[in-house]
Amino acid sequence: MSGSLERIIAYHQATKHQPNRMARGPGRMDWANQPDPFRSYEGSRRLALDRLGFEGINEGSRPYPLNRENLSRFFFESFALSGRKAAAGSEWTLRVNPSSGNLHPTECYILAGGGGGLGLPIGIYHYQPRDHSLELLAVIKEESWQSLHIPTGAVLLIFTSIYWRESWKYGARAFRYCMLDLGHALAAAGEAARCLGWEADLLDDMGREDLSRILWKGREEIGHDLSGKEHPDVMLAIFSDGRVHEMMESMPLIAEIESDPYLLSPNALSPSIVPWQEIDMVSEAANKPPTIDVYSRYDSRAARMLHNMSEGRSGTLKEASCDLSQAQSVKYCHLLRRRRSAQAMDGRSTMPLESFHAILRATLADGAKPGLPWRPQVNPVLFVHRVEDIERGLYILLRDSGAKEDLQEAMDPDFLWERPSRMTADLEIYQLAQGDARLAAKESSCRQDIASDGCFALAMISRFEEPLQVYGPWFYSRLYWECGLIGQAVYLSSEAAGFRGCGIGCFFDDVVHRMLGLSSLAFQDLYHFTVGRALIDPRLIDLPAYD
Ligand SMILES: Cc1cc2nc3c(=O)[nH]c(=O)nc-3n(C[C@H](O)[C@H](O)[C@H](O)COP(=O)(O)O)c2cc1C
Repeated sequence: MSGSLERIIAYHQATKHQPNRMARGPGRMDWANQPDPFRSYEGSRRLALDRLGFEGINEGSRPYPLNRENLSRFFFESFALSGRKAAAGSEWTLRVNPSSGNLHPTECYILAGGGGGLGLPIGIYHYQPRDHSLELLAVIKEESWQSLHIPTGAVLLIFTSIYWRESWKYGARAFRYCMLDLGHALAAAGEAARCLGWEADLLDDMGREDLSRILWKGREEIGHDLSGKEHPDVMLAIFSDGRVHEMMESMPLIAEIESDPYLLSPNALSPSIVPWQEIDMVSEAANKPPTIDVYSRYDSRAARMLHNMSEGRSGTLKEASCDLSQAQSVKYCHLLRRRRSAQAMDGRSTMPLESFHAILRATLADGAKPGLPWRPQVNPVLFVHRVEDIERGLYILLRDSGAKEDLQEAMDPDFLWERPSRMTADLEIYQLAQGDARLAAKESSCRQDIASDGCFALAMISRFEEPLQVYGPWFYSRLYWECGLIGQAVYLSSEAAGFRGCGIGCFFDDVVHRMLGLSSLAFQDLYHFTVGRALIDPRLIDLPAYD
């Protein structure tokens, strides 16, 4: 086993919460030292975006052209503020994308400009949600941009994480939360792009250093000590006119892009920054090197198998999910800014079976935006509490039907693996055990009532050791991104069905593993989620996102 893989596994084990011992945390909330949730570059040239959303958009006009108005819409419906809350003398902002503890470690940068209707200098910009604007950080050299043949309808996004924002509250486990949040952010971008008729593609060949070079000319640490380290995660390309193929050949050159950065300093985040050695270690071990087509090399066999299997099933799976993405995109576009986390569930509402199906269907890899370039690794176990026409109990949804045998072998041999009679044919769901799963859901989710008071809860069981060996230790982050993407799909599909979801990052990992009979690192539980009828807290006052 490589040293980095060993360190990833050591981190993963050390940051498991146990019922009698939580992962190492700060012990208390140091409010005076709370990190600023907004990154800003003092002295940068600011370009205000329009506060326009998807109110007037319609299907017939898609794809919408890439111009300033639609870029404004894209950010307004993915990363902008979506509300403010006030209670007991304090006030806080909420965003379109969710975040563990509302701490928002994810930052978004954009490489854009040139022709078309954007009317921006070709440059690298930081998206500023506080006032919905772009901060110009560097001007990209025109010859360099031209040499990449980036279509006029394309922009490139780079996502980064500031671990300190999460470790301030959650300590050593924070790296996991940052990566889950990143998955939610990728899905938020993918969904907003879909509403405009744009395509979003994850460009995962570049390594962290490549991205760091593009953003900051290779200096991982910019600014001063109190700015907090910011780590680049991944690039997402957005194409408004479907001309993705035109850029394929120049992809390997993107890392060489030439720019003239302004000398700008990012803001200080807090009076002091507390180091977390576990996080430094895992971040270093998960540092992605440049790769070439790493997914297609390893997945070709698996992809062929899956293809053959779905052909064999007379195409039912495929047709169902294509219909779904059409219906979803129309329905979802008007609720992206309305998405909220449930803070408490009513403990009695039941969910119609069709809603349950629609929510689960939204998690399938076929419908996901952006599509992930690797074979699905995550198969959610479902704690079904109150869904009409199906028995209470423990179920599993296979997002990768090829995982069935491995899961059966790894899990409790007494599990039933029976197809429920009322289940739709396009979802591969098996009942594992009968009975009331409310206590199991609650106890394993750090005893949070939201896990048992909803209609159902999920534990996202991911393949673990094998993909880290096949792709590399850096794939650890990607496992969480996949979970975050699933979580975002559940948030949105739950809202669309008139219910509400909530991410649950706090859970007792090994309690779930024991409950499922998982005794090795072949599969691990990486994220929980709950869906139900939310109770509204009357003490919270809603205020508009922007004045
Ligand atoms: C990765 C992740 C983990 C979360 N974990 C929990 C949790 O354990 N318990 C909880 O009540 N809320 C949890 N949340 C919900 C956040 O607190 C919520 O997203 C945040 O306060 C922002 O509110 P919003 O989702 O309404 O925008 C989690 C959210 C995410 C994205």
